[in-house]
Amino acid sequence: MKEQLEQIKQQAMAALNNAATPADLEELRVRYLGKKGEVTAVLKLMGKLSAEERPIMGQLANSVRAEIEQKLEDRKTQIHASVLEAKLAEEVLDVTIPGVEVVMGHQHPMNQVLDQVKEIFVGLGYQVVDGPEVELASYNFTRLNIEEGHPSRDRSDTFYFNDDDSILLRTQTSPMQIRYMENHKPPLCMLAPGRVFRKDEADATHSPMFHQIEGLVVDEHITMGDLKGALVAIMKKIYGEDSVMRFRPHHFPFTEPSCEMDMQCHKCHGTGEVDGQTCSTCHGEGWIELLGAGMVHPDVLRNCGIDPEKYSGFAFGMGLERMAMGRLRINDLRLIFDNDVRFLNQF
Ligand code: DAH
Repeated sequence: MKEQLEQIKQQAMAALNNAATPADLEELRVRYLGKKGEVTAVLKLMGKLSAEERPIMGQLANSVRAEIEQKLEDRKTQIHASVLEAKLAEEVLDVTIPGVEVVMGHQHPMNQVLDQVKEIFVGLGYQVVDGPEVELASYNFTRLNIEEGHPSRDRSDTFYFNDDDSILLRTQTSPMQIRYMENHKPPLCMLAPGRVFRKDEADATHSPMFHQIEGLVVDEHITMGDLKGALVAIMKKIYGEDSVMRFRPHHFPFTEPSCEMDMQCHKCHGTGEVDGQTCSTCHGEGWIELLGAGMVHPDVLRNCGIDPEKYSGFAFGMGLERMAMGRLRINDLRLIFDNDVRFLNQF
């Protein structure tokens, strides 16, 4: 039995020295020290020994067991160290390898223009506000003096949600005038940019969704002169100090009087022609329409609990895409929404 133990010990030591991985070690542990292992098998025979032999053999078997255990621990530490060393050698960081380029996005051109516009208005004391895109017909139409039966309320132009046409996707940002005046007393100065929706087929100048920027100023003694002064100053800031503006009479149900503001075409300087050809920027018009505006209708003020005898105001609404197209020389509205990076990267 003594020889047997010696032999097991020598074999175990040799095998442990050759073990290369933690898995090899585990296999050897089971083979020698496991429940059915070789050392365990010898210990099980102990019962057959004489009373004198038993403690001597017991001691020997235990010390063989302890030696194998110790060797297992030692090899475990060594193998761990060598695995770590190999890993460190393999994962050496080569700082000269070119990095992976991170593709950075940037702000959408339409939002670039929107931010410029907002900045100008904030500088003039306007408060920029946001409102719901799902709107009540009473705000979008009725309280803006657009009565039932008015063509702009037609189902063929407006996305309605229900049968009685009382809830819709707002067709303009003008309902923000009502919402703002409901909650603020004059003097007030508001700018409300946002998305609007109309049943239009998409083409170079139309889209079923586009952006408007609504403005509203109400105070005592506000006149058409204030409207003209403010809008000309703002548009010169946006389009350049040498821009030429004009106002044309127009009709909007929620303003009286109403007007539209045009800018002289910067390409043909109002002549409608470039080198004997029809100007491609203004299509021969000589002028580019910028916005609709007017003096807030007394009924609209009254609808919001503001006394039109004491207060007056002006309002305006402009199309953001049109403005971005003019500023950035974009000739097709759809490009703004397609989000093709080859297009976006140019701005
Ligand atoms: N809401 C009008 C539209 O969508 C634009 C507009 C015109 C807004 C005149 C106004 C305004 O505030 O005074 O065509």
